[in-house]
Amino acid sequence: MNQRISLSRYLVEQQRVDGLIPAQLRLLLEVVARACKSISQSVNKGALGGVLGTAGSENVQGEVQKKLDIIANEVLIEANEWGGHLAAMASEEMDSIYLVPNRYPQGEYLLMFDPLDGSSNIDVNVSIGTIFSVLKKPEGHPGVTEEDFLQPGAQQVAAGYCVYGPQTTLVLTVGDGVAMFTLDREMGSFVLTQENVRIPEDTKEFAINMSNMRHWDAPVKRYVDECLAGVEGPRNKDFNMRWIASMVADVHRILTRGGIFMYPWDKREPNKPGKLRLMYEANPMAWLVEQAGGAATNGRERILNLQPTKLHERVSVVLGSRNEVDRVTRYHLEA
Ligand code: AHG
Ligand code: MN
Ligand code: MN
Ligand code: MN
Repeated sequence: MNQRISLSRYLVEQQRVDGLIPAQLRLLLEVVARACKSISQSVNKGALGGVLGTAGSENVQGEVQKKLDIIANEVLIEANEWGGHLAAMASEEMDSIYLVPNRYPQGEYLLMFDPLDGSSNIDVNVSIGTIFSVLKKPEGHPGVTEEDFLQPGAQQVAAGYCVYGPQTTLVLTVGDGVAMFTLDREMGSFVLTQENVRIPEDTKEFAINMSNMRHWDAPVKRYVDECLAGVEGPRNKDFNMRWIASMVADVHRILTRGGIFMYPWDKREPNKPGKLRLMYEANPMAWLVEQAGGAATNGRERILNLQPTKLHERVSVVLGSRNEVDRVTRYHLEA
């Protein structure tokens, strides 16, 4: 039986063998993984753990918060604030940045997260997850401000997600490809189950919320109509469709077997570029997808090049199999 490699050993090797990640970053990632394990335990309890349903509050996004949104957020804050790796954190569920309290050692990294992605799926027992992104704190000034977080996604030093589904799987990149780790519940450790993940350049599977079709811009409508036209249409092939409404689950499928995921601008909220958040959804997922050979744009530009202007900035997202993303981007640029 081939030797089982734990997340810790994988990270030590990325640190030692490839010199890719400093010890502080390795330790930070191990803390995030432990927090995800703890969130997975709560998710798995469901009704038995009293974690279902809404918390009766709203977040900065104007969304009604679920109990698990808040529980997952607290788990990540409490796990990460004392270790000395971080200077500050930012979360979908918190209006402003969270400074590591002075009583704890200050680190050089900034951690952003969507603590519970796919909240609308919590109560119906469909896969959900946690998305995280790590940046280095800019040098040259004491303390941390929101501006320190406003770095293009290309500056990330680590990104990943943990999907709480039939398996609990942590998916991670530190810039040397994408690796997947499955949680061994008996041992309580994440075990390497795939590395050098590759997304096929072509696909026959698209993911978009079709109920928004009447609100889409012309290039997205053109692309989806051509997919729906099937083998008799201009694409000369039949397409399949999936929409799980948990980005982590849709992206995990794409990393596993290819596909294209779109959450584009639509005219329901014309002043917003899209629903998904740049800093803790689009950027980490875009880096993972690119590290696996795929592409990620906002319809026109590479997501990782976008200069953020606000912490909770939204963005249109088109990501997945490179040749399909390129087609959608071409349709936008031709429009
Ligand atoms: P979150 O639960 O963190 O707010 O994110 C939900 C996002 C994303 O996970 C998913 O792809 C999308 O919302 C689904 O949106 P619709 O419900 O509009 O399809
Ligand atoms: Mn939300
Ligand atoms: Mn989300
Ligand atoms: Mn969320």
